[in-house]
Amino acid sequence: MIGIFDSGVGGLSVFREIRKVLPEEKYIYWSDSAHCPYGEKSQEYIIDRARFITRHMTEKGADIIVVACNTATAAAIATLREEFPVKFIGMEPAVKPAAKATKTGIVGVLATAGTLKASKYIDTCAQWAEDVRIVEHVGQGFVELVENGITSGPQAEDIVRESLCPLLDEGSDTIVLGCTHYPFLSEVILKIAAEMVPERAVTVIDPAPAVARHLMEVMQEDGLIRRDGFSMLLESSGDLKKLEYIYNNLL
Ligand code: DGL
Repeated sequence: MIGIFDSGVGGLSVFREIRKVLPEEKYIYWSDSAHCPYGEKSQEYIIDRARFITRHMTEKGADIIVVACNTATAAAIATLREEFPVKFIGMEPAVKPAAKATKTGIVGVLATAGTLKASKYIDTCAQWAEDVRIVEHVGQGFVELVENGITSGPQAEDIVRESLCPLLDEGSDTIVLGCTHYPFLSEVILKIAAEMVPERAVTVIDPAPAVARHLMEVMQEDGLIRRDGFSMLLESSGDLKKLEYIYNNLL
């Protein structure tokens, strides 16, 4: 069984890609919405939550776990790998493909404060983005929008505009989505970019397809693929109805 968790519903944007490559597996998804957002929480707090969720999911039978949250990956994946005997697959902002793709030489990164200050992210930028300029912004209010199922319309556009404009003003043509909630706002991001800089071809990069492929490869190597029929167990530390609504309507 594949366990997937996030601070909330954002990890479903990763599950959406995983399901395409592993359609016949059993899944358990944990939305930690009673503790969401993780973005400004301390590393110790996130490690404690990640431990609790991992223990729960392994007790339910998960034998591989996707930390479908950039903030939790940066804060906790190293500890989880030390403490639990299962494999963990994490998220990483897609700085490397973005550095290759940019034509203006300027890459915009949208992520949480926790991800942007993590050494994992800083090291990735140093390693892969030497020849480009990286500009960053926290997607202020994005997580709350998606948690409430708002992924289009004037409210979403106003909130997205605030954080996206500084990146566009700096000249970015490639926007890295460094938080798993943000892909649900991709269309709004592209719409605003088309309005703000119609002369520039702006693209967004979501790391989820690459993470899904990596998960499949690891499961192949470890003999973990079962193909015994799709099932999904949805669980939440908060409002399960909200998770079910997003699962049924946004995927
Ligand atoms: N979806 C998460 C991430 O990828 C966390 C968002 C949050 O809880 O602040 O970073």
